[in-house]
Amino acid sequence: MHTPVVGTADGDLRVMVLRAFDLASRTLRFHTDARSPKITAIKDDPSVTVLFYDPEAKVQIRARGSGRVDTNGAVVDAAWDQAAPFAKRCYLAQSAPGGSCDSPVSGLPDWVEGITPTEAQVAPGRENFAVLLVRIEAFDWLYLANTGHRRARFEFSDEGMIGNWLVP
Ligand SMILES: Cc1cc2nc3c(=O)[nH]c(=O)nc-3n(C[C@H](O)[C@H](O)[C@H](O)COP(=O)(O)O)c2cc1C
Repeated sequence: MHTPVVGTADGDLRVMVLRAFDLASRTLRFHTDARSPKITAIKDDPSVTVLFYDPEAKVQIRARGSGRVDTNGAVVDAAWDQAAPFAKRCYLAQSAPGGSCDSPVSGLPDWVEGITPTEAQVAPGRENFAVLLVRIEAFDWLYLANTGHRRARFEFSDEGMIGNWLVP
C-alpha cells in the first residue's frame, strides 16, 4: 500500500508515494510539487479519495477524506529535511508539472540530470515542495478470500468510529 491512487474532486487520479500515516489523527502524508495541478484542485475542493490495494494481503481500501496542502511549517520543514537529495532533485524542475514542451524533457536543469546532487544544490527546490495531508473521514475495506469475500465500511465523526459489515 506504498503507492496508492489519489483522486481529486476534478475527477483526476494519480499514483503517489505514501510517506507517512498518523493513526491518532487518521492522516496520510504525501509529498508533491506545490505547482502541480492537483494542488489547485485540492484548494478548489478539499475532497480527496485514496485507493489502496495490497495483493499479498488481498485487501482493498477505498478511503475518503479531506485534503490540505502545506508549504510552510514544522511538518513541511521536517519532511524536506528527511528527504534524500535524489528525491529533492525533482523539485528543481524549472516550470510547473503538466506544462507543455517541444520535446520529451525531464524538466530539470541540465546540470542536475543524471547526478545525485548535494544538499546545497537541491536547496532551491524547497520553494516548490509541498506536503499534502489527507484526513480520512470514511473508508471501505474489502478482503478477498476463496471462501467468500468480506467487506466493511467505517465512518469517523466527533463521537468516534462507526463500522458496518457490507455485502461484498
Ligand atoms: C510509482 C509512482 C509514484 C509517484 N509518486 C508521486 C509522489 O509521491 N508525489 C507526486 O506528486 N507525484 C508522484 N507521482 C507522479 C504522479 O502520479 C503524477 O503523474 C504527477 O504528480 C502529476 O500529477 P497532477 O498532474 O495530477 O498534479 C508518482 C508516479 C508514480 C508512477
